[in-house]
Amino acid sequence: MNGINKNKNKYTLTRKEERAIIRENRKMMRHFEKLKKRKNVSESEYLTQMRDPNNLVEFDDLHTYFYTDIGTVKAVDGVSFEIPKGSTVGVVGESGCGKSVTSLSLMQLVQAPQGQVVKGSIRFNAGDKCYDIVKMPTEAMRKIRGKDISMIFQEPMTSLNPVFTIGSQIDEVILLHLEGYTKKQAKEKSIEMLKRVGIARPEAVYDSYPHELSGGMRQRVMIAIALACEPKLIIADEPTTALDVTIQAQILDLLREIKHKTNSSIMLITHDLGVVAEMADYVVVMYAGRIIEKGTVNDIFLDPKHPYTIGLMKSKPVVNKVVDRLYSIPGQVPNPINMPNYCYFRDRCDRRFDKCAGDYPPLYKISDTHYAACYLCDKSKEAQ
Ligand SMILES: Nc1ncnc2c1ncn2[C@@H]1O[C@H](COP(=O)(O)OP(=O)(O)O)[C@@H](O)[C@H]1O
Ligand SMILES: [Mg+2]
Repeated sequence: MNGINKNKNKYTLTRKEERAIIRENRKMMRHFEKLKKRKNVSESEYLTQMRDPNNLVEFDDLHTYFYTDIGTVKAVDGVSFEIPKGSTVGVVGESGCGKSVTSLSLMQLVQAPQGQVVKGSIRFNAGDKCYDIVKMPTEAMRKIRGKDISMIFQEPMTSLNPVFTIGSQIDEVILLHLEGYTKKQAKEKSIEMLKRVGIARPEAVYDSYPHELSGGMRQRVMIAIALACEPKLIIADEPTTALDVTIQAQILDLLREIKHKTNSSIMLITHDLGVVAEMADYVVVMYAGRIIEKGTVNDIFLDPKHPYTIGLMKSKPVVNKVVDRLYSIPGQVPNPINMPNYCYFRDRCDRRFDKCAGDYPPLYKISDTHYAACYLCDKSKEAQ
């Protein structure tokens, strides 16, 4: 239940409504927390089958909600897409559309107890076995996190611990996840990792503290940590946003090179379409917690279908083209607590027509790889 009052334009809650929301939230949070904390869960409960064994990850109808005091924020609301083995999937969309929450759900790092995966599954192909991460107890997830799936965060300064040396932080990951490593071997591997991410004088950097390094260097260290255990999947959440342009390009080159060498997959989260065009094989466009279009990089860049995707393309700066002002899509993303029951983009869309006031549109198939949630793509007879 959403819990917010019915009047769309009224955002104030009465005390009674507030209390009802808090009561309902408490009930939901207790329910989900209990499921996660179970001990001695047999593996068979969270073993599953991939729909396609060539996929590394399959998000299937994922719903991740936040139970806040003013109502339920449907941060991710029915998202399905896959990450094929050895490929880079770009997830794009404006700030607040649910990109980070999607990846945090995959890592089981959504801020609990308010944040909970309430529905859907996330299938992860660990090679000999496949797991449904949604059903996995925290205990079991710890073994996968950092080893099979690792994450590069936007702000390296907050992810590195300021009181430990760089070396000890890489060693820690190696000793935790890789079996049979002695301290000496871990150090050798750490230095090797630092070398691999293009850090000169890796022995000196090994002994330094995070504040002694520049932003670009810290981001390289983060990548070294993320790659130390040769994960199957690297999640890069806005990995270059905090960096200047030249360093950005270097970091992207580095990611591409590493992916090539290790054949890992990358889930690349960004609001920068330029980065996606350069890096991704597949693109998922999100809007207000849902996927509005997905396809191969060519589908999305050469033949975008959803007016929102087309708007995003128009708002991208182009080299050698001088414009007075960059295009921006008019209007705002709707309030996540009080979503309309028609297409979320309708009120900002310049191509809306009668049908758009109806139910939220399904994802229409344009080709085997290309889908868009827009009535303009409805080619059925009744639509004509
Ligand atoms: N801890 C939280 N509590 C409440 N709402 C949250 C929390 N984290 C994220 N959200 C909400 O979830 C939505 C999606 O957020 P996020 O995935 O971080 O967006 P982005 O696409 O910019 O990464 C936003 O509306 C945000 O306000
Ligand atoms: Mg984010």
